[in-house]
Amino acid sequence: MKKVLVGLTVCIGLLSFQNNSFAVYGPKVTEIGNKHNLSYANVGTVDNPITYNASDPNDPRARQICIFCHTPHNAVINRGLWNRQETTQLFGQYSSTSLHIRTDLKSVSDYNEPNGSSRLCLGCHDGVTALGAVVQGPNSGTNIAIKGNPALAMSGTHVFTRFKITNDHHPISFNYAKVQPSMANYKPVPAGGNVKLDHLGRMQCTTCHDPHQTKDTTMPFWVWEYIPPDPYASPANSHDAVCLTCHDFVFPLF
Ligand code: HEC
Ligand code: HEC
Ligand code: HEC
Ligand code: HEC
Repeated sequence: MKKVLVGLTVCIGLLSFQNNSFAVYGPKVTEIGNKHNLSYANVGTVDNPITYNASDPNDPRARQICIFCHTPHNAVINRGLWNRQETTQLFGQYSSTSLHIRTDLKSVSDYNEPNGSSRLCLGCHDGVTALGAVVQGPNSGTNIAIKGNPALAMSGTHVFTRFKITNDHHPISFNYAKVQPSMANYKPVPAGGNVKLDHLGRMQCTTCHDPHQTKDTTMPFWVWEYIPPDPYASPANSHDAVCLTCHDFVFPLF
């Protein structure tokens, strides 16, 4: 049994012990305590400690928030007005013997490396690219120093190595419509919902994660948002609700 199952199931198990109050949003990307707010001002809070933020108050970019990912001008990648180079690392794609899309690779476009907006995530989460390596803005050509170090890259459990992509996190970057007919028990992703495919119909990191704000503080940057009369209103179910959009699992899996 692959590790993605184990990892995801541990999480499901923990969540089933949560109480039944409504899902609580985390801090916005513009607020203190949001891990994607890398600005100088973000010192974190007791409930939301942060590990990485800009350290040089004299760098005008250190006071900004969106600049770490977006620029209004001369974007590197047009979509999302991206202000970072893509990752240079090679990751491969998730694979396991129980995976149907593994035997169906030829029908799935681009199923080689993470693509689309998932590459944007990996431009910080690769553990290699400096977190402060933005392209446009004041002092361009230099990185924004994070914790006193312009070359500082992410380390620890939030890094996506090749192993994590190929063995240890949900498959991404495949074309959902193309793989679906060959698989039993997969549902079409409803239009206009919280769980979204990208503009080319591909599942990405952003299908499950909202990079601006978590919609449930029990989950990291989670997309789920309670819309009445949704049956999955509680934190105990917001994880499962995302999975059940596509899967016909009966939880718990084990
Ligand atoms: C940690 C990176 C990161 C930061 C910081 C960030 N964003 Fe984003 N933003 C993203 C990603 C990733 C997307 C999705 C791009 C895609 O799907 O192609 C996005 C998309 C958007 C979009 C398009 C609509 C949407 O929600 O998908 C807008 C508008 C936006 N961001 C505004 C902002 C603003 C304003 C700020 C600063 C207050 C900000 N972002 C900070 C990563 C970030
Ligand atoms: C500008 C760099 C940057 C980009 C781009 C970025 N992240 Fe992050 N992300 C971070 C940092 C820094 C952390 C905190 C890491 C730590 O504390 O060890 C983080 C943490 C996270 C976490 C864990 C949050 C938690 O509460 O523990 C998730 C989930 C996450 N990012 C998802 C994404 C996704 C999905 C994308 C792309 C849509 C993305 N990130 C793009 C820098 C980035
Ligand atoms: C199917 C939904 C799903 C997709 C797609 C997904 N994640 Fe996650 N992610 C989760 C869940 C659930 C957790 C928390 C439990 C766990 O670790 O499995 C998580 C946790 C994380 C964390 C916190 C550290 C960790 O590993 O637990 C980071 C960072 C993260 N994801 C980033 C990403 C990035 C980057 C992508 C795309 C390459 C991505 N995720 C794709 C569901 C998803
Ligand atoms: C957008 C739809 C979608 C969402 C949301 C989604 N999945 Fe999946 N998931 C898929 C598809 C498609 C596959 C590939 C199935 C295959 O090829 O057999 C898959 C594969 C899997 C696998 C099989 C991995 C393997 O090695 O066989 C597991 C386990 C899984 N998902 C768990 C989850 C969990 C847990 C969540 C919620 C955190 C989730 N999924 C959310 C569509 C989704």
